[in-house]
Amino acid sequence: MRCQPPLPMFLDVALIGFGHVGRRFARLLAERGGMLLAEQGVTVRIVGISTNRHGHVWAAEGVDVPAALSRVEAGRRLSDDEDEWLTPPAIINLMRGVSTGLRVVVETTTLDIAAGQPAIAYVQQAFAAGCHVVTANKGPAAFAYAGLRDEARAAGVSFLFEGAVMDGIPIFNLARETLPGVEVLGFRGVVNSTTNHILSALEDGEAFDPALARMQDVGIAEADPSLDIDGWDAAAKVAALANVLMDARITPLDVRREGIGPRSADAALRAIEAGRRLRLVAAAARLDDGSVEASVGPVELQAGDLLANLRGQANALVLRTDLLGEIAVCQLTGGLTQTAYALLVDLVTICRRHAPLPAGAPRRIP
Ligand SMILES: NC(=O)c1ccc[n+]([C@@H]2O[C@H](COP(=O)([O-])OP(=O)(O)OC[C@H]3O[C@@H](n4cnc5c(N)ncnc54)[C@H](OP(=O)(O)O)[C@@H]3O)[C@@H](O)[C@H]2O)c1
Repeated sequence: MRCQPPLPMFLDVALIGFGHVGRRFARLLAERGGMLLAEQGVTVRIVGISTNRHGHVWAAEGVDVPAALSRVEAGRRLSDDEDEWLTPPAIINLMRGVSTGLRVVVETTTLDIAAGQPAIAYVQQAFAAGCHVVTANKGPAAFAYAGLRDEARAAGVSFLFEGAVMDGIPIFNLARETLPGVEVLGFRGVVNSTTNHILSALEDGEAFDPALARMQDVGIAEADPSLDIDGWDAAAKVAALANVLMDARITPLDVRREGIGPRSADAALRAIEAGRRLRLVAAAARLDDGSVEASVGPVELQAGDLLANLRGQANALVLRTDLLGEIAVCQLTGGLTQTAYALLVDLVTICRRHAPLPAGAPRRIP
């Protein structure tokens, strides 16, 4: 009797959001993803994309990704179908029927700093449809981490968000995979690239507005740049980090927050004259009563401080732990590729956790 070759195991992806991050992810998936995921025994295909103003595209056998990229980058909608607009909930619903393999919703919509919506609703709809979720959006972990984690567990799916903080640098994976039993007592860091770039430029005598404009041009600043300069993006990251690493159960609205502005130029230059550096520091610490206090604001740091020496788009996070003392993670070059890579890593994690092993195959790590 002839042995039939095994049927391919598909990993079907729906993209909710197709902006800077979503499009860089689609390209990276084409460049590296196929090979990386083939090592996990799966064939990846993007079956749907839904956006806010650029419409949608859906094809259960896989959408034409290069065509989707060129249409959106030419300012066109994803399809010419004017009668029907498949919103994110409609696309997520279609995911129920795509394949018997792995189904993943990759969510990269804009951060909503009031309540994390509609991203949280999309994540919940994806769980209800039996889909794993990967997101670069800070909103879900910053506003609703504990509840979403429990919903994902109950649905038997993964909820991953490595790209939400410090682009591709593994923070959540580092803690989850390599620090079992270690308690994070607090952290401090520089976690917003736009404000760090601006503060470095102010130290060099540049003006505030052109430095901000550069970050907007390269797609690093948030769609609404006040989210960066008023400290909201950093507050969302602090809340996400504190919720995941310290079970803080806070939201960005609980973070004491102060941003930067053109007036920061004088403060940055005064700090340099005094041998110090002005940085937007994000921090959290557990208090004696067990609660977590979190803050974001400009702080004058001693010149020898690790955070003081981060210039441009560099980020760093220093975790204070009970067993390992302080652990510092630095990202000297951040950007869209790094964020897209974090989404790809989350897909690999989903394969490692959920793709069935062929008979006799060795256990995959981790
Ligand atoms: N840019 C970065 O370097 C970076 C790094 C880490 C994390 N992030 C996070 O990643 C996410 C995406 O960032 P981005 O730079 O790609 O933003 P972006 O360029 O503004 O793209 C956002 C995308 O989401 C879509 N969208 C917005 N609201 C939506 C809604 N309610 N329903 C459906 N689609 C919606 C937009 O649709 P239209 O195209 O139709 O407008 C667009 O396709 C944000 O949450 C951001 O905080 C970004």
